[in-house]
Amino acid sequence: MAAQKFSPEDILIEKLNDKHDVRCFRSYEPELVDFLVEDALNNQHQNLSTTFLWFHKGSLVSYITLLTDKINLEGNLKAFFKEKGIYYKSLPALKIGRLCVHDDYLHRGLGKMMVVFAIQEATDINENKAGCRFITLDAKRNKDKSLDSIHFYRKLGFGTLKERAKGTTPMYIDTKTP
Ligand SMILES: CC(C)(COP(=O)(O)OP(=O)(O)OC[C@H]1O[C@@H](n2cnc3c(N)ncnc32)[C@H](O)[C@@H]1OP(=O)(O)O)[C@@H](O)C(=O)NCCC(=O)NCCS
Repeated sequence: MAAQKFSPEDILIEKLNDKHDVRCFRSYEPELVDFLVEDALNNQHQNLSTTFLWFHKGSLVSYITLLTDKINLEGNLKAFFKEKGIYYKSLPALKIGRLCVHDDYLHRGLGKMMVVFAIQEATDINENKAGCRFITLDAKRNKDKSLDSIHFYRKLGFGTLKERAKGTTPMYIDTKTP
């Protein structure tokens, strides 16, 4: 039987601090474990990114790391904004730097909920703090194609910014898209 989906009310979100012990975190993407255990707090102290830990009944189930970004307007995107009378070379964005669900809690809605969280943060920035037109990210590839996160993000409405033969794929969503 498939495990039940998480509901947002059962989740506690905390900004990473030096009291958190994150060494219990496990993922089939070891780089994302290493980032959380070794770099996330230091990056936060250096104002490079902010990491939010998600807990369910006291267990660390996932995390998301956010930072500021911009998109350089080129090609279709440049033409799209030109039609609207917007001629800037680049537009502001909020980037999902890292997003990862613990292996024991996959396919229970956490990934999608964290993307929604990022969109809500962008809305808050727009309403109260600064302009933020896009959400951006670099989608990871996996040797096992079925684990490519590109498909996950496409399903949630993200478009591809640039096709690349190797490495990560830059993706984005426009916060003005209904
Ligand atoms: C990709 C990842 C975040 C998905 O998290 P998750 O909690 O298992 O996903 P959800 O349960 O929220 O799934 C949301 C939807 O995406 C789909 N989905 C999940 N993983 C998918 C994948 N790899 N490819 C295609 N679709 C996927 C689900 O079927 C679901 O669809 P539905 O709404 O129609 O039912 C998770 O597999 C993960 O942490 N992977 C390792 C790290 C990683 O690749 N991070 C992203 C790059 S930085």
